[in-house]
Amino acid sequence: MFELTPELARSLDEAAALILRSKHVVALAGAGLSVESGIPPFRGPGGLWTKYGEPTNLSYREFIRDPGEWWEARFRNEDRPGDPTYELKVAVDQARPNPGHHALVEMEAMGLLKCVVTQNVDNLHREAGSRSLLEIHGNRTWLRCVGCGDRQPREGYHFDSLPPLCAQCGGVIKMDTVMFGEPIPEDVLLASREQAESSDCMLLVGTSGTVNPAARLPLVAKELGASLIEINPDETTLTPWCDITLRGPSGELLPLLVKRLKNGGAAKPAGRA
Ligand code: APR
Repeated sequence: MFELTPELARSLDEAAALILRSKHVVALAGAGLSVESGIPPFRGPGGLWTKYGEPTNLSYREFIRDPGEWWEARFRNEDRPGDPTYELKVAVDQARPNPGHHALVEMEAMGLLKCVVTQNVDNLHREAGSRSLLEIHGNRTWLRCVGCGDRQPREGYHFDSLPPLCAQCGGVIKMDTVMFGEPIPEDVLLASREQAESSDCMLLVGTSGTVNPAARLPLVAKELGASLIEINPDETTLTPWCDITLRGPSGELLPLLVKRLKNGGAAKPAGRA
């Protein structure tokens, strides 16, 4: 159960003051942000990979070897209980944005958050209303052409023949979600790196900091003088580089942070007991 200790309250005050002093705040979001939407993380307690083991780095190679077979297998086994992707699919299908997603949207609307770089493919940032968003691992509700990179919403796409082929270039179409072993699309990778290089404060929200290139972004920012604020119930590999650590769930902490930002950094509006 979440408890706002005096020490955590002080750290929240510090974090709010730091954000208010910063010019280009960027958030790097991970699976932990969506845990309070009912989506299991990958690592740590209740993590999918904790339960089923990390997938091999071969997924993309298997897809490229025979995209038709990959798509046929996908349609054949769409609902395969006991499979990590099935468990994730059920959870994501039912998930809605939580107060953590909405708090990031509020910070953006207040002009205090320039961009969210997310590792999550669950589309919850878009549903919550984030506008400046980079989905470094793709988005499960989109398709992408392996040839020209053209992206389109999956909804309404007719899989008349398999593998689906790009109307633009005739290339093979895959899910937009980046597979293990697949290079991150160049455009989103460059944009994410630019955000890290431009930021003077980076929020690390619900990420274990274990998967590159995303996990390197905070270190790029730090090397260029940015401050790091970690929002996570647990320690991570990035904790040693963080200036402020807010130990707790993002769905609770981010709204408390926004409240302080609205009050100019204080927990309560000035002049009120
Ligand atoms: N609020 C904030 N953080 C939380 C919460 C919560 N309520 N619950 C758990 N966490 C933290 C965990 O402590 C952990 O540090 O979220 C983090 C989740 O880590 P991972 O499961 O490794 O997720 P992530 O860092 O996003 O993984 C990166 O790995 O498998 C790939 O493609 C996958 O995008 C994913 C990438």
